[in-house]
Amino acid sequence: MQRNTARNFIFTLFAFLLAFSVHAEKLPNVTILATGGTIAGSGATSTTTVGYTAATVGVQQLINAVPELSKIASVTGEQVFQIASESMTNEHWLTLGKRVNTLLAQPNVDGIVITHGTDTLEETAYFLNLVVKSRKPVVLVGAMRPGTALSADGPINLYNAVLIAGSQDAIGKGVLVALGDQIHGARDVTKTNTSTPDSFKTPELGMLGYVQGPKAFFYHATTRKHTVDTEFDISNLSVLPQIDIVYGYANMNPVALNAFIAAGAKGIIHAGTGDGSVAAKVKPDLVAARKNGTVIVRASRVGNGILARNGEANDDELDFVVADTLSPQKARILLMLGMTKTSNTKELQRMFYTY
Ligand code: SIN
Repeated sequence: MQRNTARNFIFTLFAFLLAFSVHAEKLPNVTILATGGTIAGSGATSTTTVGYTAATVGVQQLINAVPELSKIASVTGEQVFQIASESMTNEHWLTLGKRVNTLLAQPNVDGIVITHGTDTLEETAYFLNLVVKSRKPVVLVGAMRPGTALSADGPINLYNAVLIAGSQDAIGKGVLVALGDQIHGARDVTKTNTSTPDSFKTPELGMLGYVQGPKAFFYHATTRKHTVDTEFDISNLSVLPQIDIVYGYANMNPVALNAFIAAGAKGIIHAGTGDGSVAAKVKPDLVAARKNGTVIVRASRVGNGILARNGEANDDELDFVVADTLSPQKARILLMLGMTKTSNTKELQRMFYTY
């Protein structure tokens, strides 16, 4: 009798340990969606760090180059596009956003990594931040040097991105960006240098955390709504409204503004100087454009700070919207999505203070 009890105890303990070890070893399922960029680029020599060709290497080759991935996640790859990111379009974004939502709705997908060129990476990240309908991690990753270069940054960035995408701590944080061992939020991150590996920064508003060793560490979270908490739904959209950006500079004239409107722009982001000021030569045309129905958003080319409503222009009187702290390129994205819902400038202004 005693011997039976001991045997049962040992059997139960063994079963428990086995179940525990199986559970402990279960790796997260991470899908890598490849879109091109320098991370998939190649150069003529190992010292070619500029002037290389982006978007030449396929997703499986990217995965094979980092065998360490198999220790941190069960990884599958999908080639969505193979382009340099300066050629990213609204149509690419709609395709990508829908694919991300389809994948994340599957119970066997725990997180998504998107490999992307760095030139417009921050824009794709912010677009997804507004349209992904899941709390599961979505992480964009790029590289400043092609895989053929000395000290290529793609492999470690990809490893870090997969680690973040499989991390419980990344759930509900919005779309993330992983470069240079740092974790950034999609809304505020920007590319700050044409070519150095530490190019991605979140000036003033701050990055969210680091990857160190095999772990993601978070210290901050964005206060702005994202992903499941937004009002935007792209599931039935095949086109987005045309929104263009006009850039402010000394001696500015209204030619570009009027050309965009003539070409069908429904909204204009005015990337003004300073606090979004509008040049005297441009203002009459900007006011006329608004009167004729074009939505005008005042943003700034400066790169940091709040765009003061009713500061450099009387926005209430002129019926302009202000971009809050969004860069002109991100203001364009929010206005596009906002105008899929409404043309009411008060509602659009609310969105700029919400997202
Ligand atoms: C691109 O954006 O596709 C080229 C530049 C880069 O990825 O760093």
